[in-house]
Amino acid sequence: MRFLCFGSINMDYVYRVAHIAAPGETVSSLGLSLFPGGKGLNQSIALARAGAEVYHAGMIGADGSLLLQELERAGVDVRFVRTTEERTGNAIIQVDDLGQNSIIVHRGANGKNTKTFVDHVLSHFAPPDVVVLQNEINLNEYIIHCAHEKGMRVALNPSPLDAELALYPLEEVDLLILNETEGAGMTGEGEPSKILDRLSGRYPKMHIVLTLGESGSLYRRGRETRICRAHPVRVVDTTAAGDTYLGYFLENFMRNGDPAQAMEIASRAAAIAISRKGASPSIPFREELDELEHGRR
Ligand code: RIB
Repeated sequence: MRFLCFGSINMDYVYRVAHIAAPGETVSSLGLSLFPGGKGLNQSIALARAGAEVYHAGMIGADGSLLLQELERAGVDVRFVRTTEERTGNAIIQVDDLGQNSIIVHRGANGKNTKTFVDHVLSHFAPPDVVVLQNEINLNEYIIHCAHEKGMRVALNPSPLDAELALYPLEEVDLLILNETEGAGMTGEGEPSKILDRLSGRYPKMHIVLTLGESGSLYRRGRETRICRAHPVRVVDTTAAGDTYLGYFLENFMRNGDPAQAMEIASRAAAIAISRKGASPSIPFREELDELEHGRR
């Protein structure tokens, strides 16, 4: 089984701030760092560090070679990453004293995928391979539909939530991983259990994972529910915690089919990511999860 992550690749400009700027407010940055990021890149790296065979497909600009190297260093196959004339996607991230963030994403090259390119990439994959998507590239609806038609399994992280999501054939998605804000946006509900009731009512066969930050995570498929607590850690920067969770969850769940075990491993990995700065550099290696379990962290 191989994972094809068709996803975004961003350069993250991370501004440390005392508090996140409110509408109309100007705040001074306490420091600027550049990190490799993009939900797609982060998820590919998390899958690879969890032990999966991962192929990344997507677009960068001529300015994106460092990001390509970051994927390669993590053991991700980048033969399906193309260079376009558009500049590489980027994100402006504010991180406050509590480690909370606020992110603006500029799509850039991530919006330049073509149907011909999608067809070419998918022609190299077949069941039981899994396609992994987020909402930071164009043509997601086409990729979902074509992968589903081929019998591949489709995992979607509908982040960032926007109007395009309404166009996606969600009934063709096998696994949805989302956070509370995204769940509320998709259902109009605020309570986690109601979000899951709504989603599983609409898509009874879908595996749904709802992440709740420090309150843990929930799994639902039809009437089956699982609950997982979060591991308490000192929060430094929550960026890429969700991507780390997703990579570790998918690697384990697609191999073992046990949501409880996959959630436990994923929440340990996310806890480590939260205790570090940056996006992809914060994603732990598999061995580090055992250290957390044995209290050496
Ligand atoms: O999930 C974190 C990521 O969101 C960042 O790396 C940033 O690039 C945005 O895509």
